[in-house]
Amino acid sequence: MVSEHTAAQVLVASNRGPVSYTLSEDGSLGARRGGGGLVSGLSAIGSEAEALWVCAALSDGDREAVRSGVGEPGVRMLDIDASVHSDAYNGIANSVLWFVHHMLYQTPLEPVFDAEFRRQWGAYETYNRAFAEALAESAAEGAAVLVQDYHLALVPGMLRELRPDLRIGHFSHTPWAPIEYFRMLPDDIGEQLLLGMLGADRVGFLTWRWAQAFQGCCGAALTAHDVTTYWPKDEPPSVEFRPHGQQRKRTVIGVHGLGADADFLRERSRRADVEERLAALREQVGPGRKTIVRVDRTELSKNIVRGMLAYRALLDDHPEWRGRVVHVAFAYPSRQDLAVYREYTAEVSRVAEEINSLYGTGDWTPVVLHVKDDFARSLAAYRLADVALVNPIRDGMNLVAKEIPIVSDHGVALVLSREAGAHEELREDAITVNPYDVTGTAAALHKALTMPEAERAEHTKRLAAAATALPPQRWFLEQLEALRA
Ligand code: F6P
Repeated sequence: MVSEHTAAQVLVASNRGPVSYTLSEDGSLGARRGGGGLVSGLSAIGSEAEALWVCAALSDGDREAVRSGVGEPGVRMLDIDASVHSDAYNGIANSVLWFVHHMLYQTPLEPVFDAEFRRQWGAYETYNRAFAEALAESAAEGAAVLVQDYHLALVPGMLRELRPDLRIGHFSHTPWAPIEYFRMLPDDIGEQLLLGMLGADRVGFLTWRWAQAFQGCCGAALTAHDVTTYWPKDEPPSVEFRPHGQQRKRTVIGVHGLGADADFLRERSRRADVEERLAALREQVGPGRKTIVRVDRTELSKNIVRGMLAYRALLDDHPEWRGRVVHVAFAYPSRQDLAVYREYTAEVSRVAEEINSLYGTGDWTPVVLHVKDDFARSLAAYRLADVALVNPIRDGMNLVAKEIPIVSDHGVALVLSREAGAHEELREDAITVNPYDVTGTAAALHKALTMPEAERAEHTKRLAAAATALPPQRWFLEQLEALRA
């Protein structure tokens, strides 16, 4: 990895970086390294490679680290003004772009694109520009730059202007909205977003469905830019256009379905801390009972509440399950700066309590809800699950659906939303649900709970194989190679 002052050959840019700092009361800084697909993907290029990860300082600890010159080799943290960052991240990225791509608006009253929105959009531009400038400054001649996600949609276009020599890729970890929904955005904003991403040589998506939706948006929203879209049979799809009357440009679209890191998961899930939590969970569930497990960030798109309503419908429609099954739901905090997330988090707890007070008995708690993030306990639940419930209303991929079959102790039946990106790869061995259909989801849970053991084992084997088709390191290298080709 390079120091932030050496010119890097490979650069990754994302809002959240691989490390975060906490500030203790005595003023000392503690560093914590994060996990996830991108972190393990990047490790594929090896510690000697000239790679640099550019990310934003997110907390007071991060800002203090930047200001006092504390840092990790290979990471450059940007100390962007806190209010600019908040308007860009909370205001635009999480409250507008995330909502558009996950189709989360309650449209009779929202969205409202007014003067306040325009002000926040200005901050989003400033924040994207800070990344583009830092990347331009740190990249070696002809370097490859991999820009991540909706936070940084304008970066490729801005960077292209500053450094035409670079190979630029953009990757979306979210779904992409269909044109009918995307065009809720003001026309000039939609156009700016698409042109920003098309500043890249390649734009990547997790599934063909999101790639197609992106191309559809380009075709419909960029008519003023002489756009042509291609989806040839044996070549990658692409978009050609003339940005603001300049020379015609072509951007290739790629699909890279991030898979799970099986080696890491299998080893990690057998360690002592996981065994300990497994024993504790078994005790909480009670002997001889089946488990329906879900593990999510408490994210509006994860559909945790409808999942619980489906479980309640199961207990209503099939009283024989009362006392014989437990819904183990881990719903970890996410984006608590936003009121709508706080309200949703409260609703998850409220519904869980309601089910418990309605059906619970002296020795049976129907819903075991945990809200404190604990990775070892998540792995324990993965191992224990008889049924995995993954029912997002829309999801870029959903790695939980891929991880559970890999570490499962005795096979798992996967109830999977057709709106999760993972459904494209796992559908044949999952029980598919429409995430809005609570009755249908209850029926799917019953089917999953009663699936014969041999069938369940067979499905689990095939799910685990599909889930590991493109492990994080290969996922990353595949994109890098395609970008350099
Ligand atoms: O899961 C989709 C995703 O866009 C990831 O790529 C990204 O890490 C995350 O969501 C952003 O979440 P947060 O707002 O907590 O950083």
